[in-house]
Amino acid sequence: MTTRRRYTLTQYLIEQRRRFPSASGDFNALLLDVALACKAIARSVAFGELSGMPGSDLVDGSTTVNVQGEEQKRLDVISNIYFTEMTEWGGHLAGMASEEMDEPYQIPKTMQRGKYLLVFDPLDGSSNIDVNVTVGSIFSILRAPQDVIDSGRDVVEADFLQPGTQQMAAGYALYGPTAMMVLTVGNGVAGFTLDPNLGQFMLTHPSMKVPEDTHEFAINASNSRFWEAPVKRYVDECLAGKTGARGKDFNMRWIASMVAEAHRILLRGGVFMYPRDTKDPSKPGRLRLLYEANPVGMIIEQAGGRASTGREPMLTVQPTALHQRIGLVFGSKNEVERIERYHAEPA
Ligand code: AHG
Ligand code: MN
Ligand code: MN
Ligand code: MN
Repeated sequence: MTTRRRYTLTQYLIEQRRRFPSASGDFNALLLDVALACKAIARSVAFGELSGMPGSDLVDGSTTVNVQGEEQKRLDVISNIYFTEMTEWGGHLAGMASEEMDEPYQIPKTMQRGKYLLVFDPLDGSSNIDVNVTVGSIFSILRAPQDVIDSGRDVVEADFLQPGTQQMAAGYALYGPTAMMVLTVGNGVAGFTLDPNLGQFMLTHPSMKVPEDTHEFAINASNSRFWEAPVKRYVDECLAGKTGARGKDFNMRWIASMVAEAHRILLRGGVFMYPRDTKDPSKPGRLRLLYEANPVGMIIEQAGGRASTGREPMLTVQPTALHQRIGLVFGSKNEVERIERYHAEPA
C-alpha cells in the first residue's frame, strides 16, 4: 500500500532555508510559532458557539473598543492573545504590533529578544464570526532596525514604519470549511491545508498564481456614493457588461472578510477594491496598511498579481503611522493596472 506523500509546513520551510546556507533557523522557528497560534485560533473558531467565545460581550457582559474605534469581538481579543503568547517566548522577536493593540507590544524583559518584528491582524472579517462565515488571520514579518537588535531596547512605532518591500515574509490563515495557511517567504506563494488529526499544515497548493485576467470584482457597493471618479468609472464599466466598453459580463462577490477575498482571487483571479473614498475625511480608506494591505499585497505580487493604492504600488508606500488606513486595490494584474490608468488619467 502507498500513501500520498505530502510535505508539512515544517518541511517546506526547511527546503526554503536551503537557499540561505547561513540562516540560523530563527526565521523558520518564528513562522512555526505563528502557525501554532493560527492552529489555536482555528480550533476556537471551529468550536463556534460551543467555545463560549463568539459575540462582542466579554464574560462580564461589557464590551471593549480597539484603537480604530471598532467594537472588539471576544475572538478578536482571544486571537490576539494566542498570537502574542505563542510567539513571544521563542527569542526571535524584537516586538510586535497588532490591530487590537494601540501601542507596540514589548517582549517581556524576562524573555530573550530577537531580530524580527511581527505585525498582525489576529482576526480579519470579525463581523462574520457570529454568522459562521470564513474569517482569517493576516501577518507580516519585518526585520527590526539594527540598533534595536544590537541594544535590545523597547520597540517604538517608528521601528515598524517600513514599506511593504521590506517584508521578509507575509501570510494568512483562513478559517473556512477547511483551515489553511498561505505563505510567502519571498520565493512564490504556497498554500497549506490543516490536517486536524495530524495537527499539521500540509502543502496542498505548492505554487499559487493569480490569473492575469478576470471577469469578477469585489467591492462594497453600498459605499458607491462616496467613491472617487476612477473607481466609479471602473465599476460602471463592469456593470455595463457585454454591450459596454469592456465587451464582457462581470460577476460580483463580497464576503466582507478581505482575507477570504484574497484567497478566492489567488485561486481563480479577480479584483478586490476597498478604495479611498469620501465617506469620512479622517479615514483615507478602510483597511490598514501595515497588517492588512502590505501582507496581502506581498502575497498577491509574489503570485504574479498586483496590489496598489490606485495611485502607487502598495508595497512602496512609506508608512506614517502604525494603524494607518489606506485605499487598497489588488488582484489580477491587468485589471489592477487598468484601475491605476483610470486614476492617472485627468478627470
Ligand atoms: P477586521 O475584521 O480585521 O476589522 O477587518 C475588517 C474588514 C475586512 O476584512 C473587510 O474587507 C472589510 O472590513 C469589510 O468591510 P465592510 O464592513 O465595508 O463590508
Ligand atoms: Mn477589526
Ligand atoms: Mn482585518
Ligand atoms: Mn481584525
